[in-house]
Order: sequence, then structure tokens, then C-alpha cells
Amino acid sequence: MKIAVVGLGKAGLPLAAVIADSGLEVIGVDISKERVAKINKGINPIPEEQELGVLLKKHAGSNLKATTDYNDAKQCDAFIVIVPLLIDDAKKPDFAILKQAFLAVAEVMKPKSLVVLETTVPPGTTETKVKQWLDSSGKPYYLAYSPERIMTGYSISRYREFPKVVAGIDAESGRLALELYKRFCNAVHLVSSIRTAELIKVAEGVYRDVNIALANELYKVSNELGVDFYEVRKYANHRYCHIHKPGNVGGHCIPIYPWFLINQHNVPLIKLARELNDEMLNFYAKRLQQIVPKGGKVLVVGLSFREGVKEVAYSRSIPLIAMLKQQGYEVYVYDPLFTEEEIRGLGFKYSKDFSSMDGIIVMNYYPELRDGLMLYKDKVVDVKGVFNDFAVD
Ligand SMILES: NC(=O)c1ccc[n+]([C@@H]2O[C@H](COP(=O)([O-])OP(=O)(O)OC[C@H]3O[C@@H](n4cnc5c(N)ncnc54)[C@H](O)[C@@H]3O)[C@@H](O)[C@H]2O)c1
Repeated sequence: MKIAVVGLGKAGLPLAAVIADSGLEVIGVDISKERVAKINKGINPIPEEQELGVLLKKHAGSNLKATTDYNDAKQCDAFIVIVPLLIDDAKKPDFAILKQAFLAVAEVMKPKSLVVLETTVPPGTTETKVKQWLDSSGKPYYLAYSPERIMTGYSISRYREFPKVVAGIDAESGRLALELYKRFCNAVHLVSSIRTAELIKVAEGVYRDVNIALANELYKVSNELGVDFYEVRKYANHRYCHIHKPGNVGGHCIPIYPWFLINQHNVPLIKLARELNDEMLNFYAKRLQQIVPKGGKVLVVGLSFREGVKEVAYSRSIPLIAMLKQQGYEVYVYDPLFTEEEIRGLGFKYSKDFSSMDGIIVMNYYPELRDGLMLYKDKVVDVKGVFNDFAVD
């Protein structure tokens, strides 16, 4: 059996590597020439994923071949598509990339190929849009959906540990998808419909978003009462209570998926949670204002959307920096994942000199910075509970 994985990003490449490691032959298709060249040389383009590096060394160029040409996947029996679906400024999903990928698959696939979508989508997308794009080929095919549930940094192990959900558009498509995924995932569950599988993934992201909003409100209440939120959380949590950590919600997963439901359904709680989480930036900026008068020097610690992943897309630090600059602060940035040159290259002032700052806001949690920051505790806005022993799980 030969499998094509379309989209070799942070989600698709670990998947391709895990499939190759199971002994199946994989053709990885991506539009980025640079990425494809790196992968074929066995170079890991996602250094945060250490286990991926090991698998690429083992399989790149043999069991796993990357290409920019969809024609190289002509002999494949199954196509797994995992390209991004983002939202535009009006928060509406932009299907352009998905459409492009599926039309390309439709052109090269053999009749009776199995096509699986893994990208998180608004429930209903696979049976409508994706089906329509594939139908344009005039060829018979099997169609399934299986949500990607990885987390960058832990992606390879997640295939062993996380239950993998699959669903087919009909019984045979579901059976074929189940058989395929069983070859490289430990626990695979065939669920009753594609819409069910699509909603499972969106529900997971929405659950986290809403619960973070709840934690943010309880955090504000704790501040007003003069009690330690993290202590409250530690002792409130038990079998029936799972209060999340408060904070900003960045990245291209959790802040996006709620909109897939908000756009199509009457979900006021989900909408309010999304808005409340976005507003946390104002809350933290106000706390900084209480420490530093306008015009002062402030340091934003953490530029990437979360600790451990070197990516600025959808990072909440970016709008925070813009907001602080607009308020008249002199803003510096430090993130241990980025070099001074990289931070300057992104258009920010660099500093790691905590002592020269009037205020510091810690957006990401880097334990190695804790002792250094501790010396200036009084001028730190601690978004991540860096100084709080109760915050460590
Ligand atoms: N990264 C995560 O932690 C994560 C977690 C769960 C689910 N996902 C899902 O995976 C999807 C993809 O996310 P990602 O993090 O891999 O994105 P990414 O930006 O890291 O990678 C996307 C890749 O797709 C490629 N691509 C774009 N258009 C293409 C096309 N027409 N044909 C072939 N390749 C194309 C890009 O060149 C890029 O390499 C997300 O939309 C989400 O639904 C991601």
C-alpha cells in the first residue's frame, strides 16, 4: 500500500513520518520547495519535534519521499490531506487552500482511492465542499475524515497515546479508513458519521477555549478578593472539577475553531468566551500601566504563540506589543527561542536586560528565566504564573 500525505507542515509531516515508520510507503506532497528539499535530505524542519528528527533520519528518501509534484502520488492507494484552513478578517473560514489541494488530488488519484481529510473544519465541510471537489474528477472514490489531534513538540508520541477517530461517508469508506489507521495508530475508533468526527475535534478546541475564559473570570475574581487564584484552582480541582489555567489564547487552533460554530449556530456562550479571551490583552496591559507610567521601558518576554514552539503566527504577543507601543511605551522583546537577530528581523527592539526595564510582562513560561525574573518581581506582570508554586501541575 502506498499513501500520499498532502501538506507536510507541523501536523502533516509527523503523520507522514509515523506512517512511513509503520512500514508503509509514503509520498509527501507540499507546495514548498524548500521544505521538500530539507525533508528529502533527512533534515528535520520542525526542531521542536525531536522524535520526528529520528524518524526522518530513518525514512527520508526511502519509505518517505517528499515532492512538490502531485503527479508523483499517482500510484498511491490513499490520500490524506492536512493543509491549513484559516479564517479571514471577518472570521469566516477561507477554503482556498483546501480547495486547491483537493482539486489537485482529484486530478491525480486512481479510481477507488481512499481520500481522508484531517484538517479541522466546520462540521459538514467534508460531505459538502470536499465531496463536490472530488466529484469533479468523475472518478469513483472512498471518502473519510479523521481529525488531527497532535500538539507540536509531542506529535509522534500522540499517535501512540491518543485515541484516533475516523469516520466514512459510507460503510466501506469507514472500514477502509479504520483498516488504514490501525496500521499506525494504537487506538482507532470508527464513529457513526463524518459530521460526528468533525464535531469531535471542534468540540475539543471549544471546550478548552470556554474553560480558559472561565479560568480568566475566576482569576479576575480572585484578584478582586485578594486571594491566590492558583491556590483556589489547585484545591478546587478534583474528579468533577477541572479548572484550566488562565491566560491568553494564541495559536492557530483554539482561537479559530470556535468561529466554525459561531458562524453557523446559535452559540452565545462560545462566542462570549472567545471575546473574553481576546480581551485579556487589555486586562494585562492595564496591569502593566499600574506598574509603569506611559513612556516607560517595558519588556515582553515570549514572542511565539506558546512556549516551546518557535512560531509567531497568531501569537498574542504581537497585538500586545502593538497596543503597548500605541500607548506610548518603549517596547523591547525577549524570547529564548529566538536569536537577537531574528527578533530584530521581525521589526522589534531586543533586550534581555531585566534590570534596565521599568516593567516586564511574561507572556510565555520559560522555567530557566524564573530566577532571573524573581529579582524584579515587583515590576513583572506574571501572565503565566511563573512565580506561583501552585501554578505548577
Ligand atoms: N499544528 C498543530 O499543532 C495542529 C494540531 C491539530 C490539528 N492541526 C491541523 O492541521 C492543519 C495544518 O496545520 P499545520 O500546523 O500543519 O500547518 P503548517 O502551516 O505548519 O503547514 C501547512 C503545510 O501545508 C502546505 N501547503 C499549503 N497549501 C498546500 C497545497 N495546496 N498542497 C500541498 N501542500 C500545501 C504548506 O506549504 C505547509 O508546509 C491545521 O489547519 C489544523 O486543522 C494542526
